[in-house]
Amino acid sequence: MTTAATALPLLGLRITAGPVELRGMTDDLLGPVADLAIKGVHDPDYMPFFVPWSTAPAEEMPKNMAQFHWGQRASFSVEKWGMDLAVFFDGQLVGSQGFSTRDFLITRVGETGSWLGREFHGRGIGTAMWKVICAFIFDHLDAKLITSSAYTDNPSSLGVSRKCGYRENGVSMRNRMGKPATLRMLILEPGDLVRYEHELIVEGLPEFRRSIGLDA
Ligand SMILES: CC(C)(COP(=O)(O)OP(=O)(O)OC[C@H]1O[C@@H](n2cnc3c(N)ncnc32)[C@H](O)[C@@H]1OP(=O)(O)O)[C@@H](O)C(=O)NCCC(=O)NCCS
Repeated sequence: MTTAATALPLLGLRITAGPVELRGMTDDLLGPVADLAIKGVHDPDYMPFFVPWSTAPAEEMPKNMAQFHWGQRASFSVEKWGMDLAVFFDGQLVGSQGFSTRDFLITRVGETGSWLGREFHGRGIGTAMWKVICAFIFDHLDAKLITSSAYTDNPSSLGVSRKCGYRENGVSMRNRMGKPATLRMLILEPGDLVRYEHELIVEGLPEFRRSIGLDA
């Protein structure tokens, strides 16, 4: 039967590793993920993201969240694509794990980013989901390098990167809410990935690989 995942295989992607499950952000998840963000993603006085989406008023969050994901679907192409997967831990929705890239067929490089509902911070879930996405990108999508970045005053994000095996790769400056902020650049090569203790099981892989131009 033809479904939304036929049109966009990202929606049918499901990566499981022990208690971690990463799933295409289907429409039924957009409300629950907005509810999670409304409850808080970080300290209200601190902004870890380049786009300050997480501090939008509660009444605007469902529309903002849905439009972001619908926009990502609408603009998905071989040349430029992003996946912001829903993250479940022990069956509970806890946040989102992202990867975005341009010209992946040529560069084999892309950037990771993620967030968890505040109540789920500091339990090792961020490290676990990041190890899972990196193993997926290297082992199943044939990437050669993964980049990331975090403000130098974001210890949890830098802690996750360090625990996954990313190396520091210089700094950059950003305008963060009108003030200068130092960004630490990070890179991860396949041989440096600290692997998660559980094997990955992937559903929807052949379709997803074809949708990003692999196996054409
Ligand atoms: C970044 C984020 C995904 C990390 O997930 P997490 O589950 O909280 O992180 P973990 O529990 O796996 O912690 C990883 C390491 O970070 C370090 N760490 C975590 N919180 C820390 C803190 N407040 N201060 C110092 N170090 C910290 C620890 O070294 C920890 O390693 P340990 O388990 O050996 O102690 C999560 O905190 C989050 O969603 N933050 C808000 C959004 C954000 O910053 N996203 C990233 C944007 S670049």
